[in-house]
Amino acid sequence: MTAHRVRRLTNPLSAVYQKNVEIPNWESIWNDLSRPIHLDIGCGKGGYLLELSKQNPGWNFLGTELRKPWVEHARSFEAQNLYYLHCNINLWIEALLNSFPQNQLKRISIQFPDPWVKKRHLKRRIVTPQLVEILTKYIPMETEVFVQSDVEAVFQSMFDLFGGQGGFQFSSVTGNPFGLESEWEKDALVGARPIWRGLFVRRGHDLISTQKHAIKAPPLGGLYESLF
Ligand SMILES: C[S@@+](CC[C@H](N)C(=O)[O-])C[C@H]1O[C@@H](n2cnc3c(N)ncnc32)[C@H](O)[C@@H]1O
Repeated sequence: MTAHRVRRLTNPLSAVYQKNVEIPNWESIWNDLSRPIHLDIGCGKGGYLLELSKQNPGWNFLGTELRKPWVEHARSFEAQNLYYLHCNINLWIEALLNSFPQNQLKRISIQFPDPWVKKRHLKRRIVTPQLVEILTKYIPMETEVFVQSDVEAVFQSMFDLFGGQGGFQFSSVTGNPFGLESEWEKDALVGARPIWRGLFVRRGHDLISTQKHAIKAPPLGGLYESLF
């Protein structure tokens, strides 16, 4: 029998996660600010980003994570192109995006976000209408947003929010586009659980009118398709 990772969910709305966060001066963190930036939201224990940063020395990486002990542990991995920030991303995304060197953000990944499924818990999800609205407003054109989940309802919601907002072009992907599986992705693969993935690219607002009609409902359990 395959050992399963137990999901213990942390409520991002609890008072302990509403505290002030000091956003660093990136000049003192990354030794080359001209590199493109990859922001990984909900990075977990940080091992995935450590490996990705080693494989991609031409990028700067930032992992954001709600759980303080995990960030404290991951801090020992930090390098000249890698940093971890302890924060509730939903409170800090706007400030964070505005703090980055202009037009350097090129990739965002949101992998296996905690699967809050009860209606009264939907506010606890990472990908909320407010988060997508802020991303639409502040991320540079052509920024890629990669999302994946092993919970279909969670993926469906991310898909609807990015697709419905306008300004994002969708394409389906069959594996991790960064060439490395996240910790939860590995676990889902070992457990033979289905994974839903999508890559959204920030494009002009003129996509608004067509996007809603251009996306087809997914076949059951299959990959989502785009008609672009
Ligand atoms: C299921 S884990 C996935 C970890 C990693 N992305 C992976 O694929 O291996 C989801 C992570 O998101 C974090 N998280 C949940 N809500 C968050 C929030 N509002 N801000 C930052 N991190 C959050 C959780 O603490 C948890 O570590």
